[in-house]
Amino acid sequence: MPMPGEAARDLYGRLRSFLPGVALDVGCGVGSVAAGLGGPLVLLDAVDLRGPLASDFPFVLGDACALPFASASVGGVHLARVLHHVSDWRLALSEARRVVRPGGAVAVTLGGRMFASALAPLRDAVFEEGQRLGIAGAHHVHGPTGYEDVDSVLGAGEVVEVAFPQFDTPRQVAVDAAGHPYAWLPGQDLSPLQAVAERLLAEWEADPDEPVEHERVISYRVYARGND
Ligand SMILES: C[S@@+](CC[C@H](N)C(=O)[O-])C[C@H]1O[C@@H](n2cnc3c(N)ncnc32)[C@H](O)[C@@H]1O
Repeated sequence: MPMPGEAARDLYGRLRSFLPGVALDVGCGVGSVAAGLGGPLVLLDAVDLRGPLASDFPFVLGDACALPFASASVGGVHLARVLHHVSDWRLALSEARRVVRPGGAVAVTLGGRMFASALAPLRDAVFEEGQRLGIAGAHHVHGPTGYEDVDSVLGAGEVVEVAFPQFDTPRQVAVDAAGHPYAWLPGQDLSPLQAVAERLLAEWEADPDEPVEHERVISYRVYARGND
């Protein structure tokens, strides 16, 4: 579910203030975050996934672990929900820092699993059951386990986050987790996960179709690049 407009403007406005001038959105996906970040932005992804949301920005096909940019050449790097997908997340962070000029910053969010939610145990149960069935999750494969891991490469980061209420039914959460294209490594048969979701919903103690208000937190760490 997208962020409400006001929360998005607040979050992306604050992030933008750390990313002066031209920034790179590395692992941009279809560009939904890029569309919110705005400003002078270059999108980069390992595959050309650009959707209409971000078609106005220049796009570079490239690898987060070998950025095709000179050292100290951009004002900032934005990495949203990417580190769990790359072959070497430490290298991707080092690359991000390399291309940022002094005065700029690297902004990182590890994304989905990090938000607090009353429905998080249901979503996590789908992920855990899937892994037990041998279906490889895109998360926890080779990504950082938390922001402490990111800090170990980039130093202490500044927390930038927004929290907002969101309404989801348990069914939406379970079905989304079972079929989410970014949650599972591509090329696998995800159909057993639908049965997992149905079973977990049958065991859920509340009405699976009753919307639940829960707090969603989108959390970033921003790593300023000093003169080193
Ligand atoms: C979960 S999506 C996140 C998309 C977007 N940043 C967002 O937050 O909506 C992860 C993206 O990382 C890209 N990606 C994976 N490995 C990459 C790599 N080595 N270099 C650049 N992008 C990569 C994928 O193609 C995918 O678009």
